[in-house]
Amino acid sequence: MSHANYGIAKHRFDTLVIGAGGGGLRAALQLAQAEATVAVVSKVFPTRSHTVAAQGGMNAALANVSPDNWHWHMYDTVKGSDYLGDQDAIEYMCRAASRLVIELEHMGVPFSRLDNGKIYQRPFGGQSQNFGGAQAARTCAAADRTGHAILHSLYQQNIRAKTHFFDEFFAVDLLLDDEGYVLGALVLEIETGEPLIIEAKTTLLATGGVGQLFRTNTNAAINTGDGMGMALRAGIPVQDMEFFQFHPTGIAGKGMLMSEGARGEGGYLINKDGERFMERYAPQAKDLASRDVVSRAIATEVREGRGCGEKGDYVLLKLDHLDPEVIMKRLPGIRDMAMTFAHVDPIEKPIPVFPTAHYTMGGIPTDRFGQVVVPVNQGTAEPVPGLYAVGECACVSVHGANRLGGNSLLDIVVFGRAAGNKITEYLGESRYHRPMGRQYVDKALGHLARWDKRGKGESIGALRDALQRTMEHYCGVFRIENVLAEGLAKVLEIEKRLEDARLQDHSKIFNTARIEALELENLVSLAVATVTSALARQESRGAHTRIDYPDRDDERWLKHTLFYRDGRRLDYKPVTTKPLTVDSFPPKPRVY
Ligand code: FUM
Repeated sequence: MSHANYGIAKHRFDTLVIGAGGGGLRAALQLAQAEATVAVVSKVFPTRSHTVAAQGGMNAALANVSPDNWHWHMYDTVKGSDYLGDQDAIEYMCRAASRLVIELEHMGVPFSRLDNGKIYQRPFGGQSQNFGGAQAARTCAAADRTGHAILHSLYQQNIRAKTHFFDEFFAVDLLLDDEGYVLGALVLEIETGEPLIIEAKTTLLATGGVGQLFRTNTNAAINTGDGMGMALRAGIPVQDMEFFQFHPTGIAGKGMLMSEGARGEGGYLINKDGERFMERYAPQAKDLASRDVVSRAIATEVREGRGCGEKGDYVLLKLDHLDPEVIMKRLPGIRDMAMTFAHVDPIEKPIPVFPTAHYTMGGIPTDRFGQVVVPVNQGTAEPVPGLYAVGECACVSVHGANRLGGNSLLDIVVFGRAAGNKITEYLGESRYHRPMGRQYVDKALGHLARWDKRGKGESIGALRDALQRTMEHYCGVFRIENVLAEGLAKVLEIEKRLEDARLQDHSKIFNTARIEALELENLVSLAVATVTSALARQESRGAHTRIDYPDRDDERWLKHTLFYRDGRRLDYKPVTTKPLTVDSFPPKPRVY
């Protein structure tokens, strides 16, 4: 399978999966079980992919704890998305959820249990019974380490199915032919710095989100938006980038995630006066309103002088009224992290928290089969041949303007599986690899060669820090035109400074400096996409809050944004408001 091509080693597979989180591994498993040859390329050892950090759980209307059905879950997801989610994809996801949780259970995921032996489900934000009624308990959990449990099981299943892993390889660029077919990717072995061509009939991007855009975030250091960056360089737009989720409860000043599960188990937020302030912002759901609502409420408390601590810059997450048994059994990871990073034992004292960058709602536009779909002309859209995307790097769009907690593990499993099936169908019809012309490889090598020079300007680390601070300051929870415009100018200036950036180290053996530069290129192009899209959207919807346009404006803005790298061009496409089999949920005022 391996031979040299233009002096570069080459491997050939049916499918190349880039990214070994839950989405990539679920798709790879589906393909390997269908006897396709599958390569998974991962920057880190697969079980260190960011899915491992998902805490609270995965939504499915199993009704183990409260009455439930998928249609209520669908309603909550559409409402949570502030009506920007595509209702066909949302119906598909919510209907599939219960079956896929059981499938994971059968693969060996050690879900927590109720006394009757059924899977434990906890209440999470924005969940209701009966279309907006009482709180539902829909989130299937393995204590507060659900992502860890799922990722490890998926990895083991892939090993059994003989998926081929390229561990600690970095994907530089997609390889495309003149007709726009994706032929695979150029990747780098991180340890040696050697490039490698992976040729594939189909390529699936599953590289996760871009939480590293912001200084304070819940994300792993690897979450630099590499798949989205590659797509942009290949001329593919990114969708809805203005919608970035700030999780309400990151450890103040540091960002580590304190799961929504903490509030699901009965924790609540208080301000400096000890007031349970969520009662004012969301009288019915209180601390379990959806994330955008809770994050805005915390930021408002702090802005209006009711924050805690010397600087008044955080609120408190109170768990010390709970039975210590609950904390030790259901939230052991939260307790560990609070003790390590906030020096607080939540059994005894509340945890200082503030909203922290958490989740990329936008991404590479796909249909519900994981095919990357782009507009061609006059309102028509077509798949990019050979290219698929799933998970946080994709925008299918089930999360719209605000994702519900517990829907991201669901998203990766549902659409990873769907993409695996779609690719299997395609492979059945496509027996041969298309020719890999030298010029296609040269283009990607040209991009890489840019970092063969040392540069004389600022270091990559300093520029990354400047970018993260700029994004946090100019494109955070609350946004306004003049600040966004200033932020865009600063991000563009950083893009310029990057041209002459200095690599700290560039030895062939320990070759992380070049990887950091490539990652920063991806981050910068996604920062430009995010601020440009945020500046253009003159309304407040979900996680995008414009102080100067405080209301949702369905007449002008019930549409998806598409950002193209060339010319920083924006385009728009309609939201799919028609589900597959049920009636639409039309936009309504969104109260919790
Ligand atoms: O709060 C949490 O446990 C995060 C869950 C999620 O983002 O889905």
